[in-house]
Amino acid sequence: MTPLDPACGYSDGDVDTNDTTTPSLETLADNRFSRRQTIMGGAKATGMALMGTAMLAACDDDNTGSDAGIIVNAGTNAATSAGRVVTLTGTVVAGSASSTTWTQTDGPDVELTLDGTTATFLAPAVEEAIDLEFTFIATTSDGIERKAVTYVRVSPAVLGFTAVEHSLADTVVVPTGYSVTVMTRLGDPLTAATSAYANDGTDTDFANRIGDHADALHYFGLSAAGAPDDMANTRGLMVQNHENITEDYLHPAGPTTIGGARPLDEVRKEIECHGVSVAEYVDSGNRTWSYVQDSSFNRRITPNTPMTLSGPAAGSAWMTTAYSADGTGARGTINNCANGISAWHTNLTCEENWAGYFRRDSGDDANRTPAQLTSLQRYGVRSTSGNYRWSSASTTDTTITRWNATIMGADATEDFRNEPFQFGWVVEIDPYDPTSTPRKRTALGRFGHEGAFVRAVAGQPVGAYMGDDSRGEYLYKYVSNANWNAGDANNADRLAVGDKYLDHGTLYVARFNADGTGEWLPLVYGQVPPRPASGSYPEYTFADQADILINPRLAADALGATPMDRPEWTAGNPVTGEIYLTLTNSNNSNRPVDGTNAANPRSYWNSGNPNGHIVRLREDGDTTAARTFAWDIYMFGADTLDCDTAFEQTNINISDLDTSNDFSSPDGAYFSRESAVSGQFNPVFWIQTDDGAMTDVTNCMMLAAMPGTVGDGNAFTVTNTDGAQTTTQGTHVGALATPATLRRFLVGPVECEITGIDMTPDGRTLFVGIQHPGERGDAGNVTSHWPESQTNASATSRPRSAVVAITKDDGGVIAL
Ligand code: FEO
Ligand code: CA
Ligand code: CA
Repeated sequence: MTPLDPACGYSDGDVDTNDTTTPSLETLADNRFSRRQTIMGGAKATGMALMGTAMLAACDDDNTGSDAGIIVNAGTNAATSAGRVVTLTGTVVAGSASSTTWTQTDGPDVELTLDGTTATFLAPAVEEAIDLEFTFIATTSDGIERKAVTYVRVSPAVLGFTAVEHSLADTVVVPTGYSVTVMTRLGDPLTAATSAYANDGTDTDFANRIGDHADALHYFGLSAAGAPDDMANTRGLMVQNHENITEDYLHPAGPTTIGGARPLDEVRKEIECHGVSVAEYVDSGNRTWSYVQDSSFNRRITPNTPMTLSGPAAGSAWMTTAYSADGTGARGTINNCANGISAWHTNLTCEENWAGYFRRDSGDDANRTPAQLTSLQRYGVRSTSGNYRWSSASTTDTTITRWNATIMGADATEDFRNEPFQFGWVVEIDPYDPTSTPRKRTALGRFGHEGAFVRAVAGQPVGAYMGDDSRGEYLYKYVSNANWNAGDANNADRLAVGDKYLDHGTLYVARFNADGTGEWLPLVYGQVPPRPASGSYPEYTFADQADILINPRLAADALGATPMDRPEWTAGNPVTGEIYLTLTNSNNSNRPVDGTNAANPRSYWNSGNPNGHIVRLREDGDTTAARTFAWDIYMFGADTLDCDTAFEQTNINISDLDTSNDFSSPDGAYFSRESAVSGQFNPVFWIQTDDGAMTDVTNCMMLAAMPGTVGDGNAFTVTNTDGAQTTTQGTHVGALATPATLRRFLVGPVECEITGIDMTPDGRTLFVGIQHPGERGDAGNVTSHWPESQTNASATSRPRSAVVAITKDDGGVIAL
């Protein structure tokens, strides 16, 4: 208990006995010194050597009454770390007070919430330990005040939860002390007139419902007036991608085919389940979240939504279709995977595995120009049915016939031969204006876009870092011509701001050098040589800049970019500006033991790099305009239970993971927001997995990390072997993982992928996407019942992708 000096009612805590939970002597001396200076009219105090005397003397400073017979105690001094909730409890030990209150008397300002004799506050972000001083004040009926002081030492943020174990349960598992609220789910209605979701395959009207396969998401704060508000913690627009569908659960008995054709109503439903949704979320108090079914902001963007093409490739002859003769109009977006968020309150949705949706009949190759044929092959537009066989439906409705890209008409205005070139873009959406027309930003290039992390620093160009998710593909960077002007952040014509920064700029592709440096190679017409003939590809000569932006994979090949192990999300550390890139995995044909490079150094178990890794880079000069950078490998995924030999521990589990933090196939990547305590000084980095290699021991997961910086580890030589051949590969490895720097925070339900993450500006609610639970089941064999199973162990319903809101029961910042 706190020693109490009854003579003056001042609690001095246990200063001398517990240095970790009390202010430093220097701080106490400083505090006393400054207060005495005030009292003494600025005269010099007698010196800090008289610490004990100064503290006892503080009695006189802190208490204005002297003989009212009242004694108060402010509680023991305490220690905490940034982001945690602290409760101060005052006590009137003797005598009677007519009122009590708390006030902060030193240290960085915090917001005190008063309740009787207690006060709570959220420990602020700090770079180093700092002491906050609080004064408990009791006032007698005579107006006499008694005061007592207590100190709370706040240390820098640390991960503050118990790691979640591997789990095969059909629930979202979070650490003790955290709660999960299921938010918008597949099929949830987005208008007042839309019926509740039956979830038995009979539902229709998905253009007014939440789509399937919840992927990347972002919470756009909404003011009371319905405008962007970066500090709105209780009202926002949840913008989420709907990447794909689990077709079997969308129909009563799975998909059907009648006479070789897909029924039209089934096809329409499946198309509409793709795209993007906007849904208003509200916290009705103390992080009690729900969505607003009838919000006027709610919107579905589907593959049928009218859009425009903008930037250098708009109007190119490659873009002409029966829908847009001049090649500037487009319809919809598909396979929207990760995202990017502009600094001007717009959402960038990224078209990833769009190529598979198109059908090209077997004779089509012979009718294509060599350039188009090379492009279609390089991008994998080679299916003779297209995903889900949509174009088999018997109809003249061009929203459906467009998925057949076979040349059939006299020219490109009479068919959809060019429809595949209208996809593979980054699409800018204004979430605050449901009537706005999204714009496909062609300056950012066309590929299998995963995400587009945007970095906007005043006075520098706007940068967008983008992975191309296929094995052996590349990392790209877009750099705007215009330097970022923070005054544009609140321009109400948000898409016009997008025109300024996203239509005029330079696209680069990354080359990672063996020495830990890297280069950005410009994809600029006149600076890109012809792509040499290789394999089945003839030499490819670029015709103009539009050609390069429509075919950056070919241009990047020509420039000698570094082929990576499936580039997924990009994320930027808000403090250092370093960019993280998840590389989810590769296989043996793409990454054999004699085909590694320094940035993709592992090949094992005859499976290439099945567990993936995370590369990070720091731009030289810390500017988005940089043409060179430094890099290392932040972390290697590994299934530690499979790494049971010394060789595997050394060469596979390179980052020294254990069962509290082992993971495989990193995909989602995200830094806590800069406005949150968890996003400052040493921000929390989040890793989400889309894994098939470790799913024998655990469902997909999310981890929280306290990463260091590029170069905080060492050079390392990996030994790779496939049994027949052994090779070595030099690389650069970041600091090893420890339980303090990497912990599993969440495990998802059966057969899901964890993808999509954002938080409220204060970091006290975390939103996470749960994609395709039960994806390997079907209507007759339902393999997951999530989200119903989250609260009902005997649930029988079909699974639904959904967003969850995760909160800490005491209201603290997530993960800290
Ligand atoms: Fe859609 Fe690359 O994950
Ligand atoms: Ca992904
Ligand atoms: Ca998946």
